[in-house]
Amino acid sequence: MTKTAFLGLGHYVPSKVVTNDDLAQMFDTSDEWIQKRTGIKERHYVEENGIGASDLAVPAVQMACKNAGIDVSEIDAIIFATLSPDHEFPGSGCFLNHKLGLGGIPALDVRNQCSGFLYGLQIADAWIRCGMYKRVALVGAEVHSTGLDFSDEGRDVTVLFGDGAACAILGPTEDEDAGLIDVEVHADGSGAKDLWIEAPSSSHMPRMTHEMIDNRAIWPAMNGRHVFRWATAKMPEVSRSVLERNGISVKDLDLVVPHQANKRINEFVAQKLEIPPDKVVHNIEKYGNTTAASIPLALSEAIQEGRAKKGDLVLMPAFGSGFTWGAALVRL
Ligand code: UT7
Repeated sequence: MTKTAFLGLGHYVPSKVVTNDDLAQMFDTSDEWIQKRTGIKERHYVEENGIGASDLAVPAVQMACKNAGIDVSEIDAIIFATLSPDHEFPGSGCFLNHKLGLGGIPALDVRNQCSGFLYGLQIADAWIRCGMYKRVALVGAEVHSTGLDFSDEGRDVTVLFGDGAACAILGPTEDEDAGLIDVEVHADGSGAKDLWIEAPSSSHMPRMTHEMIDNRAIWPAMNGRHVFRWATAKMPEVSRSVLERNGISVKDLDLVVPHQANKRINEFVAQKLEIPPDKVVHNIEKYGNTTAASIPLALSEAIQEGRAKKGDLVLMPAFGSGFTWGAALVRL
């Protein structure tokens, strides 16, 4: 039976490192508060004006292709997960398609925030198993730094996010002992306004006004404690669901690569699932929350460092804005 394999992973972060102390120079926060509440020490920001999510994606795709042993020209479809698209329209997948010289192949944008990689994975898996495409570039890429409120009012959200990109090249395998085992995703829009940006909005006439800027409606807003509660409930719940459906026990897992929103969230999730801490991958201390890029970035690094290897059974849970959440189980 054909399954979907992770053929190669790649990642890229811009070179500008912004520490907690750097942020504390701009607004009322501290290295101590950020590290204690989130685990974050630093994050990367784009170096200059004019760099969008699709620009960060280019080197990530190139690295993923190299690791998959394919040429970029062999990619036959792009799925681009992001909450920070280059522009309102067209999708960042189209910009990436052009930048990679892949004009003509389909490019689909996925707007499911921190769960975007899992939603994209489910689509890619269906495409690959039905034989529609053979080399899908599943990208998660974000430029958050150009859309954050660097004032005291925005500090709860601003300290969390960083820029970065990652890509998985996915393709069919007949190997019974490798490939995607399952992916389950969910959404509940009752939480839509607990982590969102109000403007610009197609429901406002016009979509953007000076008043919206003055009222701070253009910056992300979050009900942090509420999101935290949902994340620590839904990530274990969906993980258990995927494991039980496939007759896999927590003890069988080699590694857990969770979405990197807050180290404390992932410690809670691991505790609830009784997963030993040394099996859980964290890189939030270096990158903050890179949203759709966070799972593939953490997996790509874990492979690069030799921490994740062929044959490993890996669980990847996520929760984020929407609310959206899910979990994937893969044998590398
Ligand atoms: O990936 C998308 C999903 N997002 C998440 O999963 C985020 C989920 N939420 C969280 O991770 C946490 O709620 C936060 C890290 C955002 C906040 O941590 P918390 O422990 O829930 O803090 P809090 O919001 O309850 O705020 C505690 C205090 C408040 O001060 P008072 O009212 O106790 O005086 C805040 O004003 O911390 C203050 N505070 C800050 N202080 C310094 C909030 N943000 C900051 C900050 N620096 N950046």
